[in-house]
Amino acid sequence: MRTTIVAGNWKMHGTLPEVQRLAKQLIDVIPAQESSPQIVICPPFLYLMMLRELFGDRASFHLGAQNCYTEPSGAYTGEIAAPMLASVGVEYVIIGHSERRQYFGESAEMLARKVDAALHAGIKPIFCCGEPLQVRQRGEQNAYVQQQLQESLFHLSAGQLQQVVIAYEPIWAIGTGVNATAQQAQDMHAFIRAVLAEHYGQQLAASITILYGGSVKASNAAELFACADVDGGLVGGASLKAEEFAQIIRACKLKSS
Ligand code: PGA
Repeated sequence: MRTTIVAGNWKMHGTLPEVQRLAKQLIDVIPAQESSPQIVICPPFLYLMMLRELFGDRASFHLGAQNCYTEPSGAYTGEIAAPMLASVGVEYVIIGHSERRQYFGESAEMLARKVDAALHAGIKPIFCCGEPLQVRQRGEQNAYVQQQLQESLFHLSAGQLQQVVIAYEPIWAIGTGVNATAQQAQDMHAFIRAVLAEHYGQQLAASITILYGGSVKASNAAELFACADVDGGLVGGASLKAEEFAQIIRACKLKSS
């Protein structure tokens, strides 16, 4: 059985009091011993340690970072290294979000090195892929996503790939309120799994968690999560509202049970 995950990507949102308030609300609405789906909270770096304290030993909450650097340490002003994240209890790191690719010029080659850096530090990468609108309109989304996987993941050994979570996030669905339909999500997730199977074998491909991201909301989560190859979600905007995020988690729970 694959691990189901609902991850909240808080992006660059929230001052300290706002983040404290949101975290406390989450603690109130999410049962402490939830085991499935795994809940991964990805706040801005500077709140990670505070959240670890606030969440305490609640088994429900896992911490994720939104990025890490390629090198384990050194003179790289302003960057955060994967071993630093591991040392404060971070278990996941989002790598290759389309906003990082687009606004910070992160290349496929750099993302491959970030994936390596995370794995070396014992952190699971949540590797994002997904096509822009023009590519979808031309019907070339499969080739586009296949290339993203090829360039940044397929240098990994089977054992390493096993540690990776993939998030399919069509760029036209991120922050737009327009989600992929359940059929579009299922088709792409099945395609990603087929590509993984081609390179790593059926068994390994069947064990990889593939999340859908892009305007996941309480109103569409159940339908998206009902798809056979959708193993949960990477949630942006709706993860900033505790009650709505809890509803999304409950929708995923239906799948896990
Ligand atoms: P969204 O963002 O849910 O606000 O569309 C998803 C993401 O960027 O991970």
